[in-house]
Amino acid sequence: MAKAKTLPTHVAVVMDGNGRWASKRLLPRTVGHRQGAKASRKIIEACLKKNIKYLTLFAFSSENWKRPQEEVRTLMELFLSSLENDAETLYQQGIKVRFIGGRTQFSAQLCELIEKTERLTEGNDRMLLSIAIDYSGRWDLMQASKQLCKQAHLLNLNVDELDEAALEKYLSTYPLPDPDLFIRTGGEQRISNFLIWQLAYTELYFSDTLWPDFDAKDLELALASYTIRKRRYGLVPEQIET
Ligand code: FPP
Repeated sequence: MAKAKTLPTHVAVVMDGNGRWASKRLLPRTVGHRQGAKASRKIIEACLKKNIKYLTLFAFSSENWKRPQEEVRTLMELFLSSLENDAETLYQQGIKVRFIGGRTQFSAQLCELIEKTERLTEGNDRMLLSIAIDYSGRWDLMQASKQLCKQAHLLNLNVDELDEAALEKYLSTYPLPDPDLFIRTGGEQRISNFLIWQLAYTELYFSDTLWPDFDAKDLELALASYTIRKRRYGLVPEQIET
């Protein structure tokens, strides 16, 4: 049976547990998010050291807009300050940064910084870091389907001939390979409307560690778990071996 012997090429992470990390310390949830941002930086570095080619972080879901206004404001400020402070370092580290998700609800200032960071790091290829903000898997499928419908209409394509590859071209993650390893911290065991199409054959790993505490050692555990998984993609073991 085929083992996922090597390290994953693409790791996708749901960074959960910031609020509980803060509550346990009788601190406002917003402090947990700040600490969470620090953990993100460390994990990006740890993934770089491991030569992980693609890292996708779920930083803010489409549903997160419904959180208390104060928390949403802090998170937006955190994205702004993180980009202001870290864009240059990410560039120097050879990381290409791109943002996936809707862009219509951000402030003009955040939109500008997002675009500036993407332009700055455009030519890098050591790692592609995708940051999902105002993202949801269903949103992605909807926007991709709409684009595909428009294209099919425009080019008068035969709808019966459309295949998965035709839709994938319009997903916000294109042309990335699907994640090999999905990590969710904070003890919950669900996907929460993250990359629902792309995770079809991804190995899932759940950690009880709250995101602000998740460090290089925890990442090692997740990677070690991945290396002993047997990936079959719906086939039988003999087929995988050959
Ligand atoms: C989920 O924890 C976390 C978020 C909604 C925000 C994640 C954002 C960061 C870690 C900042 C990252 C910044 C960049 C630029 C990558 P939660 O609030 O749902 O925690 P809880 O489940 O304990 O309440």
